Amino acid sequence: MENKKRVLITGCSSGFGLYTAIEAAKAGFDTIATMRNPKKTAALENALKSANVTATIDILDVTDPENIKKIAEKYAPIDILINNAGILITGSFLDLSMEESRLIFETNYFGPVALTRAVAGQMIERKQGLIINVASLAGLVGHMFNAAYSSSKHALVGFSRSIHTELKPFNIDVVCVEPGYHKTEIIGLNANVAENFYNPDSAMADYNRGFLRLMLKEIVPRAGAPEGVTKLILKIMQTKNPKTHYTIGKDAALILTAKKLGLQKLLEKTALKKLLTATRREKRRQEARKQKRKNKQ
Ligand SMILES: NC(=O)c1ccc[n+]([C@@H]2O[C@H](COP(=O)([O-])OP(=O)(O)OC[C@H]3O[C@@H](n4cnc5c(N)ncnc54)[C@H](OP(=O)(O)O)[C@@H]3O)[C@@H](O)[C@H]2O)c1
Repeated sequence: MENKKRVLITGCSSGFGLYTAIEAAKAGFDTIATMRNPKKTAALENALKSANVTATIDILDVTDPENIKKIAEKYAPIDILINNAGILITGSFLDLSMEESRLIFETNYFGPVALTRAVAGQMIERKQGLIINVASLAGLVGHMFNAAYSSSKHALVGFSRSIHTELKPFNIDVVCVEPGYHKTEIIGLNANVAENFYNPDSAMADYNRGFLRLMLKEIVPRAGAPEGVTKLILKIMQTKNPKTHYTIGKDAALILTAKKLGLQKLLEKTALKKLLTATRREKRRQEARKQKRKNKQ
């Protein structure tokens, strides 16, 4: 049977947003797939075409209040809102500028808050609705060299848990999805490093590079397939009484289990050891490259 509930998703140019838009359309949802960059519609258009399904594509930058207002009004009534758009700028908190920190918060926290505020009125009036916030494992535990990202996701988790109770009397569910690392563009083409990441004068210069090495050699290759997250989001969309939050990913399961068992210190010790090893190796590699260049001169 066709399900004609309307779902509005942010950040559909790639990753979880793109896959979720396709799966939602396949499942019969009236899908409004939004993205901030009008030049990036091709990937979603092609994927929809290949799947032989349709969705409405529109432009939404979650840091733009006017844009948010326009889209919320244009597509009312919205049954399901998926706050998925997000950015990551890696680097020590000392090398991330305040502007970069603010941009992370504008996108990952204030964007979802503003859009939820814009859509909540319609849901309250109709006494029905579902809001899914894509947070992160980094919203539950600290994440070295991603302090602003982790803080913004902690804020989003706190927001979700808080408004969950506020909106309950209106039959509106608020669910948080907290994935560990998954192979999407946030750790690919969209990966960004802080303004001062490579600044040789920074006390963190070697450690930034060491962390990047750790990411590329150990974390990215082990990241999960994004389809699992999409499947989970679709399941939540089709569940009558969803839980307040869902954590997903092998890394997330391991870290949260260790935390529950009181092994936090061991986790931190292991992470630090890996960082120091990666930093040493990266430093040796940089020195070898320098020497090679010198020998050529
Ligand atoms: N992949 C992971 O390992 C992982 C783990 C935990 C949580 N998450 C979260 O999952 C969500 C989706 O990310 P992803 O992994 O699918 O990465 P992705 O492929 O990089 O997708 C991120 C999406 O957000 C969009 N976006 C960024 N800034 C925006 C803005 N101001 N307004 C509207 N859209 C904006 C991007 O658009 P552009 O193409 O224009 O940049 C892109 O469509 C994010 O909230 C992320 O933090 C991801």
